[in-house]
Amino acid sequence: MLLAGSFGGLWTQFQLSIDREIREDLLPESSGTDMDQAGGNRQHSVLGKTFHWGFIILYAYGIFKQIDDLEELEDSALLSFEIAFATVFLGIVMIRYSYMRRFETFMGATEPVPLAHRYLAKGIHTSMYLCLAMLPLSGLLIAGLFTQGVKDGPLQDFALGLHEMSASMSYVLIAMHVGAAIWSRVKGEGVWTSMVPILKEDRVSRNGLVTRISKLENEVFNRLENAFSSQKE
Ligand code: HEM
Ligand code: HEM
Repeated sequence: MLLAGSFGGLWTQFQLSIDREIREDLLPESSGTDMDQAGGNRQHSVLGKTFHWGFIILYAYGIFKQIDDLEELEDSALLSFEIAFATVFLGIVMIRYSYMRRFETFMGATEPVPLAHRYLAKGIHTSMYLCLAMLPLSGLLIAGLFTQGVKDGPLQDFALGLHEMSASMSYVLIAMHVGAAIWSRVKGEGVWTSMVPILKEDRVSRNGLVTRISKLENEVFNRLENAFSSQKE
């Protein structure tokens, strides 16, 4: 009871400090100009950047320390470590998501971004979170089945399949994400600078080819948006 009360208190403190940070980070800039509508060159918060860059170390460690074979779990010290690591990993993913979901996608953009483009980016971010949660969850399922003596058969195959699929999907999504971040940096639209501490942008690219591709890209997204909205009517 006492433990539940203290946890509740800590969680409320955490939420309050987050709300305070969001007010400090976001509200002073919302004056309603065109730039603000596009995101107004806003920065992700220090906590948001810490989650983003700190988590990459945890993720890379999880991927590099991966187990090669189910038999390795016979080592009970390794099994306990895997379970502890997966629990911490999952906890951090959940806390990060509950914090980051309040921020809009492309909040640093200095140019208006088509709605369809925002949805696509949001979809990729959410899919990354799903994979990052499925990795430890399926790992814990493997461990649970293994400790119950289920070392092969359809259930364990399902858990292993889910685990491998989550890992593979996470590579694909992260590659797309990094590629999109680099392209955004080339365009110089401010999104990169809102999260990345190096190679900051100072203005939108005026390179002819970049401008043309960017225009074409926006046109495709606007057409997609129109197609969806006319389908709804
Ligand atoms: C060097 C590589 C990376 C670069 C340059 C980069 C860049 C960025 C940028 C510019 C944003 C802001 C997007 C926006 O405001 O809409 C962002 C957000 C995000 N990034 Fe990355 N990123 C990198 C690696 C990663 C990796 C490895 C992961 C996953 C493990 C990741 C997961 C995310 C997520 C989920 C968001 C959405 C905001 C959040 O919920 O934290 N990124 N990234
Ligand atoms: C966040 C935590 C974890 C991460 C990031 C992670 C990551 C990975 C990766 C990347 C692979 C290689 C998948 C592939 O073949 O493509 C793997 C394999 C494996 N993982 Fe995990 N894992 C985690 C937790 C766990 C846990 C808790 C267990 C069970 C105790 C576990 C058991 C296994 C096993 C048995 C394999 C080998 C699958 C096979 O036989 O091919 N993992 N893990």
